Amino acid sequence: MTTSEVRQKFLDFFREKGHAIIPSASVVPENDPTVLFTTAGMQPLVPYLIGQPHPMGKRLADAQKCVRTDDIEEVGDNRHLTFFEMLGNWSLGDYFKQESITWSFEFLTDEKWLGIDPEKIYVTVFEGDEDAPRDEDSIGIWQALYQVRGINAEVGDRIRAYPKKKNWWGPAGITGPCGPDTEIFYMTGKPHDPAFGPECHQNCDCGRFVEIWNNVFMQYDKQADGSFKPLAQQNVDTGMGLERIVAVMQNVETVFETDAFQPAIEKIGELSGKTYDGNERAFRIVADHVRAATFIIGDARGVVPSNVGQGYIVRRLLRRAIREGRRLGIKDAFTHLIAEVYVGKYGSHYSELEQNLPKIIDEMKKEEEKFGKTLEKGMKELEKMLSKSSISGEDAFLLFSSYGFPLELTEEILKEKGMQVDREVFAAEFKKHQDLSRTASAGVFKGGLADNSVETTRLHTATHLLHQALRSVLGDHVMQKGSNITAERLRFDFSHPQKMTPEEIKKVEDLVNEAIKKDYPVHCEQLPVDEAKKRGAIGLFEDKYAQMGDKINVYFVGNEDKGFFSKEICGGPHVEHTGELGSFKIQKEEAVSAGVRRIKATVTG
Ligand code: SER
Repeated sequence: MTTSEVRQKFLDFFREKGHAIIPSASVVPENDPTVLFTTAGMQPLVPYLIGQPHPMGKRLADAQKCVRTDDIEEVGDNRHLTFFEMLGNWSLGDYFKQESITWSFEFLTDEKWLGIDPEKIYVTVFEGDEDAPRDEDSIGIWQALYQVRGINAEVGDRIRAYPKKKNWWGPAGITGPCGPDTEIFYMTGKPHDPAFGPECHQNCDCGRFVEIWNNVFMQYDKQADGSFKPLAQQNVDTGMGLERIVAVMQNVETVFETDAFQPAIEKIGELSGKTYDGNERAFRIVADHVRAATFIIGDARGVVPSNVGQGYIVRRLLRRAIREGRRLGIKDAFTHLIAEVYVGKYGSHYSELEQNLPKIIDEMKKEEEKFGKTLEKGMKELEKMLSKSSISGEDAFLLFSSYGFPLELTEEILKEKGMQVDREVFAAEFKKHQDLSRTASAGVFKGGLADNSVETTRLHTATHLLHQALRSVLGDHVMQKGSNITAERLRFDFSHPQKMTPEEIKKVEDLVNEAIKKDYPVHCEQLPVDEAKKRGAIGLFEDKYAQMGDKINVYFVGNEDKGFFSKEICGGPHVEHTGELGSFKIQKEEAVSAGVRRIKATVTG
């Protein structure tokens, strides 16, 4: 069974169970200050998990493009990936544990679907603590399912209970929907490796068990004070890593041996004249990183290599891949050739990759040229520094600023020699030289969930008002090109050919503040795309949704009788009345690229 077939079977299965199949959201999240990339299928659905109606109903399923960057340095072993596809099904206050677990088991074991031997399926559940009780419901459901298949399911063996660390899913340290989960494992049949402990069990890392699917039962909303409030609706959020389940179906040891990676691995072999066997680490790094960069650059909201934010991650991925490619002996620009292989492989499902292929090729070539020019010099410089002494934070900054070595690359080279860089000194240098970037300072690559705090919600509504005000003042050529919100400010990119005059800025600000003063109501309607267009709604994702021919959420600000102030396609969340925004101020107006301007603005009060 190929990757495409498994993906299709999953979507077909849940369609049969009454789920609407939704397209993957962008891998670059919008209006989510807490993450650089979409890290799980549920992340774009947070507004719906906390109670907003989803236009496609209460049962949803998809294959979501995800990127997790916490473990970039781990890539190269047999299981870590930066980009992966997550298959997921959701109940938004509809079915709960019974259906969810039963369907997971059916999809995995039924001959009509994946047909995995149920004897090979092991599971885990939440053991209970002071916040929530032991998950007896899930235990009972699993036992009944195994029994029907004639399998004895003892708690403590086939079913094991673990604490929150293992069987709870939700935001790490921040607020949001969460709850106990039940994880499903595939038992490979390999003998236990005692190096990992005396006894093997589901969460042992020896490789005997592979986690394949997680069913999260979202019953709680974690509060800022750390307490758990029951959610108004009980949701199901499941996630299955496509690459892993495909490795199981294809009966191979690692994800890199599946059809998802094989064509790229072959290409790397062809270009380098080396074999995968004996060079696994370098092959895997190139294969993983170029695939991730292909999906990030080729996204509908694609980002290109740069020194800030998501762009910095793309740069790191590509430069790490290029370095490994050089080590394998590839002399010329090559990342774009591997990207082409991936677009061939994935383009029929993710059509944005095909549309953006010229851009992907162009950006990769440019990045490789830029890095290629300085790589050799930089390596020489680094060796020189090393021959004198260890490398200081200032040295690492010099390598970064003059030779384009991402800090992490320098760190990695040093690690191989048992040394490290002083990150604080590096960050201080960085700060001295430019605005401190969120991403170039330490510790910002962590994943997390959308934080729908009061501040970000207010700024989100302010963004709609700003968008409309810009169109009213500058004209209808103004289109949203990007949006990013932190708890402190909004940032809005839009098409406009020249710098705004101080008068224009003032006019826009005044319009937004008037709309706030009028305390307009904000409401949401679920409309078919045609109807939304007819009613003059603006929005980014029009084309994507138009193909779907389904309903979408449209947010209206203002009163119908006087003509709405703003109508915009959007996933929310928003305030209920514009008066909640206080007062609006544009802090900065600047250029982003030819024809695109950027505004940073705040609300106070
Ligand atoms: N949110 C859960 C996970 O990422 C299930 O989708 O594992």
